[in-house]
Amino acid sequence: MLSVRTVLAALGLAALRARADLDIYVDGGLSSGWENWSWNTVIDFAATDLFQGLSSISLTSDAWAALSLKLEGTFSQYAGLQFDVAGAPPDAQIYIESTGGGVQSPTIPFSALGNFTANQFKTVLLDFSQLPPSGTPLGNNTWDRISFQAGGNGASYHLDNIKLVSSIVIEPKFLSAEPLASNIIAVTTQGAVDFSSVKVTLNNATVSVSSKITYSPVDAPSKSITYLTLSKTFAPGSLSIAAGGATFSFTIPAVLHGSVTPAVTTPINPHVYGVNFPPSSTYIQHLGTTVGRWGGNAVTAYNPEGDFTNAGNDWYFENRVADEGNADEWLGMVRSGGSAVLLTVPALDWVSKDATSYSYPASVFPNQQAFDPYKPDAGNGKLADGSPVTPSPDPRNAYTSWNASMATNWLKKLKNVPEFVAIDNEIEIAHSTHQDMHPDPISYDEELSRVVTFAAAAKAALPNVKVLAPSTCSWWFYWTSAIGWDDTAAHNNIDFLPWFLQQMKAAEQSAGKRLLDYLDIHYYFQADTSAENAAAKALRLRMTRSLWDPSYVDESWVGSNPQNHQPNPTAVWLIPRMKQLIQQNYPGTKLSISEWSSTNDNDITGGLVTADALGLFGVYGVDAATYWGQSSESGPVGLAYWLFRGFGTTFGDLSVQVNLGGSASTLANTLGFFAAKDSKTGKLSFVIINKDTKPVTLGVSNVPAGNYFARHFGGQAGVAKWQTNLSLKAGDNIVVPSYTALFLKQQ
Ligand SMILES: *[C@@H]1O[C@H](CO)[C@@H](O)[C@H](O)[C@H]1NC(C)=O
Ligand SMILES: *[C@@H]1O[C@H](CO)[C@@H](O)[C@H](O)[C@H]1NC(C)=O
Ligand SMILES: *[C@@H]1O[C@H](CO)[C@@H](O)[C@H](O)[C@H]1NC(C)=O
Ligand SMILES: *[C@@H]1O[C@H](CO)[C@@H](O)[C@H](O)[C@H]1NC(C)=O
Ligand SMILES: *[C@@H]1O[C@H](CO)[C@@H](O)[C@H](O)[C@H]1NC(C)=O
Ligand SMILES: *[C@@H]1O[C@H](CO)[C@@H](O)[C@H](O)[C@H]1NC(C)=O
Repeated sequence: MLSVRTVLAALGLAALRARADLDIYVDGGLSSGWENWSWNTVIDFAATDLFQGLSSISLTSDAWAALSLKLEGTFSQYAGLQFDVAGAPPDAQIYIESTGGGVQSPTIPFSALGNFTANQFKTVLLDFSQLPPSGTPLGNNTWDRISFQAGGNGASYHLDNIKLVSSIVIEPKFLSAEPLASNIIAVTTQGAVDFSSVKVTLNNATVSVSSKITYSPVDAPSKSITYLTLSKTFAPGSLSIAAGGATFSFTIPAVLHGSVTPAVTTPINPHVYGVNFPPSSTYIQHLGTTVGRWGGNAVTAYNPEGDFTNAGNDWYFENRVADEGNADEWLGMVRSGGSAVLLTVPALDWVSKDATSYSYPASVFPNQQAFDPYKPDAGNGKLADGSPVTPSPDPRNAYTSWNASMATNWLKKLKNVPEFVAIDNEIEIAHSTHQDMHPDPISYDEELSRVVTFAAAAKAALPNVKVLAPSTCSWWFYWTSAIGWDDTAAHNNIDFLPWFLQQMKAAEQSAGKRLLDYLDIHYYFQADTSAENAAAKALRLRMTRSLWDPSYVDESWVGSNPQNHQPNPTAVWLIPRMKQLIQQNYPGTKLSISEWSSTNDNDITGGLVTADALGLFGVYGVDAATYWGQSSESGPVGLAYWLFRGFGTTFGDLSVQVNLGGSASTLANTLGFFAAKDSKTGKLSFVIINKDTKPVTLGVSNVPAGNYFARHFGGQAGVAKWQTNLSLKAGDNIVVPSYTALFLKQQ
């Protein structure tokens, strides 16, 4: 990070500053006008164990606690926040608030700001026009509060010289330059660079630039990319781009040949592009998401009379008002963005009775493993050894009764009728997530009975609604119940999901109508990618093979301990496996995946996994899917949705057959390639995901020549909504930079 002072001095521009910087902390105490709004934090505002000037701030925050500083007034017109940090490296994040407006900036992890060390201060300059990690601007607001908040492990570190800076002068710089498509160099820059200095050579021969166009994404206006169109197409060999003193060199690899067959297509269900809890109708429109799900652990206890929920074991079994407020109104918001809606119907015997009660008060159960740091009387319902507190609390402490006729009455009254309802959420593990109101493990029979009862109740209220169940959390519970293998044995050793499908088929016969329309599962990749190093990222990028590849032995516990009586048990082979189970046990049932995750919403590899999965859901015929987690519109996961569907420009609705040479399985470790046709216009679109750490060169026959609209994210260009127009000639190679997803739509 460059300090403002250094840059200004270097450029001799100090005199141009219109407004003075605003000190927040210099030495000894907060500057005038600043108040200490911290919580659960031990703070020394005059620490002398490590300091610059006369003293520093030393602080130790509990989990999720913060040093929080509030101005008497607002600071809307500053260009950035500068401060010095020493810490080893702190598990902490920063956010800025408008306490009057109830608005909060994105949270900025310290890990995106620098590599800190315990005994030395490093200067951070947070540029409000492009906040890390994704470059969104802070925007204008009545900002008045800055919080340095610890993560779940708490944090101990020093801060010094905190101030708001009035201006940031950007040093002109070429940041990256990469080959893209057949003859484009995508160049990102900061400041006013001189493009006449750019020189491109391909295999030692100078290549001239025939045109140049610059683009700034809507939600990262401080960033820009310039597309230089070369007079010659890329060929394997060495590419070098000299620009303003920097040189960017690449090896364009040998061509990987393949073909598309536009005459051979299968439909893509548009409902595969869904998300859980989309935050606004503009989010839905910008990303083109198609289903919004109201789901997750808390809604198991959703009480429409008052909009109360209970967090279960995610947060000390505490009641609260649902984060999204009233379900019916929320469905209306999602609908207004142009999305279908999926509503979860509670199917246990209790729902939350108010906004404040909790199940395990310390006054009643003093010996508990942990208590809410913000509500010290609320315990986590566990003894020190992790086992549940006994006897179970009276459910009436936090809940009121719920049953199927109450569900029918609620659904009948909805102003915004959902297309889909799910019969509760992961209730096979209710003895854990909701141990306070359902302490006993749920058996095969109980789960079936609840699904049948509540599905009938939903269809009685909304005859056209499509019912999804059992929304099972994971691989383990696809095959058995919380009681375990004795329960499976008691059901002829038939694994849970096939048994459930058989029973729902029988239930259709007794009811005279289908009660189950979609077999709904949750799928979380089981491979451990938490190390976040190069090997873990490569694993994350290839584990999408578990969605379709019968030869991919899962690189997790599933691969060695599959826990089922199914054929090919160590391959997850998820989509074809589930479709086969449906075909064998209850044909005509659709398949939905109402929770899934890339395993990292903030890393580019998570965005590439998301794009790869969206492509695979289309090819392999998933009928609906909703991503778990409210991912930022401008972060890697949001960008994967934007790539396929953003701002009304969509991937085709018919999946086109693709044939790439070599072993499809091996290639899928590093490449996702998807083609589609628009059924109305016949135009083709492509999504190419280069999961490798070097560029890929594709030679694909039957890609029509002509003009294409292009979008991309990732690579050296970074995480932003980059887009342009380009043209391809017959036989052109398509180069995709490392760690980049590229969308092309024929014009
Ligand atoms: C700042 O606030 C925290 C949290 O309320 C408190 O513990 C601390 O004593 C305060 N520090 C000063 C110097 O006022
Ligand atoms: C931390 O250091 C690594 C390795 O030098 C570097 O790649 C990374 O960009 C640094 N992180 C930040 C936020 O500066
Ligand atoms: C924020 O305010 C400044 C100064 O009033 C103005 O120039 C700028 O356009 C505003 N930005 C936005 C995003 O509204
Ligand atoms: C390019 O020049 C380098 C150094 O002069 C040489 O080693 C290399 O073989 C040349 N490459 C081609 C493709 O001509
Ligand atoms: C549900 O509870 C209500 C209120 O206690 C009761 O009137 C109704 O009969 C119950 N319905 C079922 C299906 O148990
Ligand atoms: C691409 O071309 C279309 C049609 O000519 C135009 O509306 C659009 O602005 C262009 N997009 C970019 C990113 O240049």
